[in-house]
Amino acid sequence: MTAHCPPHPAGLATWGDDEDESLLVCQAVLDVTHDVKTFTFASPDAHLFHFEPGQFITLRLEVDGTEVLRSYTVSSPPTRPHALSITVKRKPGGVVSPWLHDTVRPGTMLRVQPPLGVFSTSRHPAQKYLFLSAGSGITPLMSMTRTLADLGRDADVVFVHSARTPADIIFRKELEALEALHPWLRVEHVVAATGDEPGWAGLVGQLDGPVLTAAVPDHADREVFVCGPPPYMDAVRTALLDAGLPAEQYHQETFSFERLDLGDAPADASLDSEDVERVADAAADSGDGAAAAASAEEGFAVQFTRSGCSIRCGRDETILQAAFRAGLTPPSSCSEGVCGTCKTTLVEGEVDMQHQGGIRPREVKMGKVLLCCSKPLTDVSVEA
Ligand SMILES: Cc1cc2nc3c(=O)[nH]c(=O)nc-3n(C[C@H](O)[C@H](O)[C@H](O)COP(=O)(O)OP(=O)(O)OC[C@H]3O[C@@H](n4cnc5c(N)ncnc54)[C@H](O)[C@@H]3O)c2cc1C
Ligand code: FES
Repeated sequence: MTAHCPPHPAGLATWGDDEDESLLVCQAVLDVTHDVKTFTFASPDAHLFHFEPGQFITLRLEVDGTEVLRSYTVSSPPTRPHALSITVKRKPGGVVSPWLHDTVRPGTMLRVQPPLGVFSTSRHPAQKYLFLSAGSGITPLMSMTRTLADLGRDADVVFVHSARTPADIIFRKELEALEALHPWLRVEHVVAATGDEPGWAGLVGQLDGPVLTAAVPDHADREVFVCGPPPYMDAVRTALLDAGLPAEQYHQETFSFERLDLGDAPADASLDSEDVERVADAAADSGDGAAAAASAEEGFAVQFTRSGCSIRCGRDETILQAAFRAGLTPPSSCSEGVCGTCKTTLVEGEVDMQHQGGIRPREVKMGKVLLCCSKPLTDVSVEA
């Protein structure tokens, strides 16, 4: 069984298969929970959308006069190609998610980069799935579930979603309706606290090994897709692998990237050679900075051709890490080769790039690289 989206009828124009940016026009905004909204878009050119369930798009926005890029998973299924939805949780203090919640209305046009990502059931077809999500990590698994339901496939899916309280469960009513309609789908919710729902009948606590094994005794027979914050995924992964799940059946994606050390770099600032000198000097004065700077001296030179900045990159550093250490802030988001935000052209030199689907094979052939997962093998020049 596969969750592949069937090809569109010949003659209908589609958007999503190439690297061209496009415009989307908002059709509807739906409140999903108290802090989550779904935005549904159409193509102003009447193109049909083509993507894999679980893939994401990247919005290129102008917020308060600054260009920002953020990735959002397509929560709608590819089986409904006339519309494309994203489901966004408001992050208090964030730049983009509050802006989307407060600004985007039917008729709003947004610029968007095409779908990317390898976290998809279409790449790992199976008869039995286990979907595990926490918080807004539910979005790719919802697209996969909707796809399976639309295609009427003979799947066997257990979907275990973790949330803070019942009021925070995204897509709760729709999942209950899907479960009632489809005997192949079983949905379990795990909440940290029951909040103002005293009659809560689901699980309470954390999703640890014993809870997981009790809820899904046959998890080792399933293709497992997990999406949530890094600590959640670490705990789930350890529990599943310790309980005998073969590693090749485990697939994960996260939206939050606490592991990236951004230092004091401001979000979404641009390259500025004066700042580089200032911050690099300050870094060299500190203990950590001195160690990193010493290691960088043994590494390679990185030239940023657009800004004219030049920095050193240690042998074990990615170009993005070296850039942040030097006080530069090239556009980036995930730092893990997933989202494509840090994509640029390698003008000269060689890098070792270990990405996770954030760049297409034909872009690599054209000399594009992702700075967050590329370590120089020689002195390099990049367009940034
Ligand atoms: C592949 C992918 C798919 C994604 N899919 C979804 C999805 O389906 N739904 C969804 O809601 N999100 C998704 N995300 C996350 C999304 O891209 C954004 O990261 C999220 O919306 C927060 O963006 P923001 O601009 O609102 O917050 P940001 O401005 O990026 O800030 C995030 C948090 O960090 C804090 N912060 C910001 N700057 C600083 C600073 N300098 N120092 C300290 N703290 C700071 C903010 O207060 C906020 O809490 C996805 C991400 C990726 C990479
Ligand atoms: S920052 Fe996401 S791919 Fe580089």
